[in-house]
Amino acid sequence: MKFRTLSSANNLTGSRVLLRVDYNVALDDSGSVAPEELFRISRTVPTIQYLLAAGASIVLMTHLGRPHGRLDQKLTTKPLAKELTKMLNMPVQHIPGLVDASTAKHVSKLKPGRVCLLDNLKFNPGEESNSVEFAKQLAELGDILVHDAFASIHRTLASTVALVELMDSYIGLLIEEEVHELSTKVVQASDDFVVVMGGAKTKTKLPCIKHLLSKATYVLTGGILANTLLASAGNNLGLSVVEDLFIKSSKAIVKHKNVVLPRDVICDSVTTNDIEAELRNLDEIEHNDRIIDIGTVTAVEYAQKIREAKTVFFNGPLGFMEKPEGMHGSQAIAELIAALTAQEKITSVIGGGETAALFDKLGLLDDVSYVSTGGGALLSFLVDQKQPGLVPYMV
Ligand code: 3PG
Repeated sequence: MKFRTLSSANNLTGSRVLLRVDYNVALDDSGSVAPEELFRISRTVPTIQYLLAAGASIVLMTHLGRPHGRLDQKLTTKPLAKELTKMLNMPVQHIPGLVDASTAKHVSKLKPGRVCLLDNLKFNPGEESNSVEFAKQLAELGDILVHDAFASIHRTLASTVALVELMDSYIGLLIEEEVHELSTKVVQASDDFVVVMGGAKTKTKLPCIKHLLSKATYVLTGGILANTLLASAGNNLGLSVVEDLFIKSSKAIVKHKNVVLPRDVICDSVTTNDIEAELRNLDEIEHNDRIIDIGTVTAVEYAQKIREAKTVFFNGPLGFMEKPEGMHGSQAIAELIAALTAQEKITSVIGGGETAALFDKLGLLDDVSYVSTGGGALLSFLVDQKQPGLVPYMV
């Protein structure tokens, strides 16, 4: 896959660049960016610095959450401008509200070498409907489009798709890196490839598992995904969280010899607050039990299979990360992956917000071969590299 990259953009000096990034991070109760989410923002800094060094000014554009075309002050990008100001060590002006004539006025005052951030693009209904009219409004704000929102490449958005027809457009350094790293490390992984997959969103994960099974030695499962697969295999899981809608469509995957389900689990009780988390075999799960982690036998089995791998891809935690008792399985696997990577025994790739947050919390983010900024986009890319947000930039 070949793209129009920044190295082929020779008209940057004095230009105003519209830089589409994906800063769709979680905010805490006080409206600030949660610390474990900052990495998604920091990964766009090389592109920002590249553009500034080339003499451009930058109009950053992102979405935040899912306002679906409505202005929602809880989802303003103002806190992101604050973080960027700290990260770049220079003022990043925030331009509030919908994109309209006043946005163009603000932006026209931007001096070379300066950066501003528009408010949430998804406040504007045209962003998600890939509206040409909205793209025309955006095109008024800059001279060149640079798309670096890897986490949104699976979406057809006005700022990443319709806008390409209206402007000179390139992919940024982050997308270039993601495509290269994921292609060489995961898409082209051949033997001894082990996938560790947990979390929720069974709908997105099933096609990805199906696809990866053509080359993975094992797909080791946990989290709500595994609960759904266990339920599909006929297990009674008490009050565990299961994505019922996908029980039927999971049946074929559960039967695949390379898909590994937990043999034992850690449960707490939904009705009793003070109950200690307990280890259970699958046939011991009681009426009020809720699975919160993989069990010890399962963790040992998964670790053994990971030790036999050459490439490991980890997406989605194996337990309930909100509870300390639900973290042990994911933590043990994360520590093993980091250690084997350090010993150069495996190539490791991780991705998805919760997985990156786990590694960050454990101080292991720098101890894997590659951390993707994508969630759904990452899984979609692994299934099919020709994503709607990438194709228009191909040469
Ligand atoms: C993400 O965080 O995965 C991307 O920003 C896409 O968000 P969306 O699923 O709300 O489109």
